[in-house]
Amino acid sequence: MYSVLLLLHSLFRWLVLITLLYTLYRAWKGYRNNRSFTKTDNAFRHWAATIAHIQLMIGFTLYLKSPLIKSLFARFKEGVRHPEMAFFGIAHIGLMLVAIVIITIGSAMAKRKTTDREKFLTIVRYYSLALLLIFLAIPWPFSPLAGRPYIRTL
Ligand code: HEM
Repeated sequence: MYSVLLLLHSLFRWLVLITLLYTLYRAWKGYRNNRSFTKTDNAFRHWAATIAHIQLMIGFTLYLKSPLIKSLFARFKEGVRHPEMAFFGIAHIGLMLVAIVIITIGSAMAKRKTTDREKFLTIVRYYSLALLLIFLAIPWPFSPLAGRPYIRTL
């Protein structure tokens, strides 16, 4: 169960990044070219947020199953001094939660805006901030705190 969740969570990261990047690209181009906000733009706004929410759910389940998190909470004082445990137990969950809250607010606000330009601009502002946080909180293979592979296999 744990290794399947970890594999799913690792792969899902790419879906989160690709949908956020593409939604941002469309919104930026739409804003720059002053074009109308189409059904496809709206679908990407919605799906980028939904995919981030699914990743959040997988992340929460993983948090409850992870041996790393279990050992952090078994001996918290010593655990937080361990870079990998502190990263996943505090920084990763904290930054990802903030990022997904920003996506949720941005998506809801863009939906409620009355002009197409405002819709695009709201997506650009909120989704780019969230993307930056997500990028910082991903355990990339080159991360000094917790290096994990680009593609995980079972
Ligand atoms: C957009 C949001 C997120 C992204 C892109 C993301 C991405 C990742 C990646 C790439 C890994 C490394 C997987 C591997 O070892 O191959 C990871 C590990 C982990 N993530 Fe996330 N994550 C996100 C949100 C969350 C959230 C919200 C939680 C907790 C509620 C969470 C909990 C964890 C845990 C516990 C691990 C490490 C598990 C272990 O090594 O035992 N993640 N995440």
